Amino acid sequence: MEQIILKTPAARSDIYVGCPWKTVHKLLPRSGVAIITDDNVMRLYGDRFPPFPVFSVTPGEGSKQISVVEQLAGKLLDTGIDRSGMILAIGGGVVSDITGFLAAVYMRGIRFGSISTTLLSQVDASVGGKNGVNLGNVKNMIGTIRQPEFVICAPSMVVSLPEDEYLSGLAELIKTAIIGDSELFDTIVQDTDGIAERNETLLSAIIARAVRFKASVVAEDEHETGLRRILNFGHTLGHAIELTQKIKHGFAVASGMELATWFSFAKGFISEEEKGMITGILRHFRLTGTAMPCEDEMRRMISHDKKKAGSSINFVFLEGIGRATVMATGIDEIMEFYRNIHNSI
Ligand code: GLY
Repeated sequence: MEQIILKTPAARSDIYVGCPWKTVHKLLPRSGVAIITDDNVMRLYGDRFPPFPVFSVTPGEGSKQISVVEQLAGKLLDTGIDRSGMILAIGGGVVSDITGFLAAVYMRGIRFGSISTTLLSQVDASVGGKNGVNLGNVKNMIGTIRQPEFVICAPSMVVSLPEDEYLSGLAELIKTAIIGDSELFDTIVQDTDGIAERNETLLSAIIARAVRFKASVVAEDEHETGLRRILNFGHTLGHAIELTQKIKHGFAVASGMELATWFSFAKGFISEEEKGMITGILRHFRLTGTAMPCEDEMRRMISHDKKKAGSSINFVFLEGIGRATVMATGIDEIMEFYRNIHNSI
């Protein structure tokens, strides 16, 4: 087991990778705990839950709504959870986003921790404190940053995920390698079979490595005023693809990463070989190849992006494998690139 400590000026988050999830008993108070989960996780793992009241939401992005958070707050109040209490999220990215937001706003803030059940949430969503809900079909428009006290990542749960859920998380893991860890990229490229077979020892090692990188970025820039922006690699175009094509987050981000890689190449920041290696690994795991939104839809979607400032977006480019950089880029320039690509595929 590996314990990774994420320290920010105001908080500390302990992330345990590769530990049995019964470890949670040591991390929870004896009383005043409520569990937030979703119906799938409840069905699969409900018999292992610690003995506290459980509130379960409908699985999927549709639950990331302010009305769901309001209903859950009412349930916490009815159960008598007060400021001395704690909320435990058990689930993937949606559960972690809702629970973190609820913990940040309920009674102006209570403690929370999570057991992260998907690869996507283990390497990204549950680590770093971002939370929130969607506003209409604009992703994560309402939210806060609040660090969980602990996150338990059990790779044994990843082993039993449905294939599309696993691959969706793998896209975020590959993202980490591309933006910040060329050795992790090499490991992934060299052991694609172990990854496809979900070798638990390999998964524990690469999940821990991805979490370590993310924790170091968040420790330096919790509120995303600079460095943390690199974690959005592939997300500007990816979010637009996700919402228009209604596909899983990781697949949309993978297509967004492919486009951002081509954009980086078009600007002369990376070599043809690097472009080929990135495109190759994404294609190897069949993460890309989805249909793309038309130009008008893409422009409308990226104009709502949180990374927008005036008529520019803080767009994440690559300078090499393991090296990302952020540049304010005009929406018109992004759209010109997109038009050329869209017309050629
Ligand atoms: N998911 C990107 C971040 O946590 O900043």
